[in-house]
Amino acid sequence: MFFKIVKKIDSSYDKYVLITSTAKKINFPEYISKENKKFIEELIKENKFSAKVGEFLNATFKVSFKNKTKKIEKIINFSLMGMGEIDKINSKTIRQNLYSGLKNLTGKVVINFENEKLDNIDALAEVVEHINYKFDKYLTKKNEAKKLFISCLSSKKVPRIIEGYELAKISNIVKDLVNEHSEAMNPKALAKRAEELGKEFGFEVEILDEKKAEKLGMKCFLSVARAAHHRPYVIVMRYTGNKSAKYKYGLVGKGLTYDTGGLSLKPNSGMLAMKEDMAGSATMIGAMCAIAKMKVKKNVTAVVATCENSIGPNAYRPGDVVETMNGITVEVTNTDAEGRLTLADALTYIIRKEKVDEVMDAATLTGAIMIALGEDVTGVFTNDDKAAKKLISASENWNEYFWQMPTFDSFKRYLKSDIADMQNTGSRMGGSVNAAKFLEEFVEGKKWIHLDIAGTAFSNGGNPYFNKKGATGQVFRTIYSYIKD
Ligand code: BES
Ligand code: MN
Ligand code: ZN
Repeated sequence: MFFKIVKKIDSSYDKYVLITSTAKKINFPEYISKENKKFIEELIKENKFSAKVGEFLNATFKVSFKNKTKKIEKIINFSLMGMGEIDKINSKTIRQNLYSGLKNLTGKVVINFENEKLDNIDALAEVVEHINYKFDKYLTKKNEAKKLFISCLSSKKVPRIIEGYELAKISNIVKDLVNEHSEAMNPKALAKRAEELGKEFGFEVEILDEKKAEKLGMKCFLSVARAAHHRPYVIVMRYTGNKSAKYKYGLVGKGLTYDTGGLSLKPNSGMLAMKEDMAGSATMIGAMCAIAKMKVKKNVTAVVATCENSIGPNAYRPGDVVETMNGITVEVTNTDAEGRLTLADALTYIIRKEKVDEVMDAATLTGAIMIALGEDVTGVFTNDDKAAKKLISASENWNEYFWQMPTFDSFKRYLKSDIADMQNTGSRMGGSVNAAKFLEEFVEGKKWIHLDIAGTAFSNGGNPYFNKKGATGQVFRTIYSYIKD
């Protein structure tokens, strides 16, 4: 437990932090005596502390703590931590500023919020989990830097399950799934993890093997999977939060545990990060965990058609024509545009077999989305503008950014093929839209949102909130909020 709420302060902490957005007229907590208060106020003047974001004022002084039986005197390490202007405080800036301020602290820290408006327990709990996350299982010499343990002194009534804390822990599960390398996180292992998480969080998981997928006619998906040593699976996750409601949300995640590009082989530089190509499935697994953990009163089914896009004597080829589960023929013009081929059958499966009423997919689908939107923004594509608006406003609860992209039918011309109903690649121009238009052919008129997370699933360290290199574990929170509300 890195985070807890305490009702009383004692002498046991390494650091005592008071979070403030002002340097004037600070509401000091009880453990600061009149003399100490004066001392701090003098220090504020002398050091021109103005409570800017990430600004610290450190002081040491003696405090006497009373416990049941005796008085304990201790010299404490005290800090005022700035949060910037109060008018600029919202849930995004609170998280960001707490993260920037606390990320270099370690040990046992007790926190007070000087002002009601700053007092956001969910954000603090999220930030603590986020700060402590490390993917270090393969380091034989671990960095033994201490973890950060936060106690928050709050008189507020706190729910038994703190949403921000639970979602942050799930986010770390999502990060682990994505950060794990592909030999370990192969399709079978991913299916097994989904099963374990289903048991832990409370949703049903059914695993379909290759034979079952073949019987279902998922030939297009299976052609991508053909050459790999690790065999493909279809993971089906079902959660019923409201037995009397008929409406069913559908979630589909791209689950390429590795993407070599296939015979249209990627260069090494492009291949290096391709263990992340199952981030869409990790996102949807995370969304299912969150929905189940928070007992959302909705019905949700998620599907992941997971496989590895590899090379070998049995590989599907550029020029092959493959047939999808819904009977469309596709000329494979590039085996590296494999995600959409797997998603096509997953979409047909979830609509026809699971009978969902609307569907959302998340996929590290195109490099082009990073050219369009950069690394910090998820591309939103839809056949229902209202749904996209709802999703984008759900994202505003979180430190996540979404932007709607066009889906004009004029883009369809790029997917024409001379020998089949469609081709899978299209032009480089508008590459992300072409991919979305390909997927749209498989949603059978259902309300549909496609999220291209190729930029946002992974961080190279530049993003101010997701500034650790590797998986970001974001996006699932927005999907959770969209379904919950
Ligand atoms: N998995 C990649 C997209 C990707 C690229 C994700 C970089 C994360 C980082 C996808 O399967 C792919 O290879 N897309 C191609 C499509 C092209 C061949 C039409 C791409 O973006 O180049
Ligand atoms: Mn690819
Ligand atoms: Zn891919």
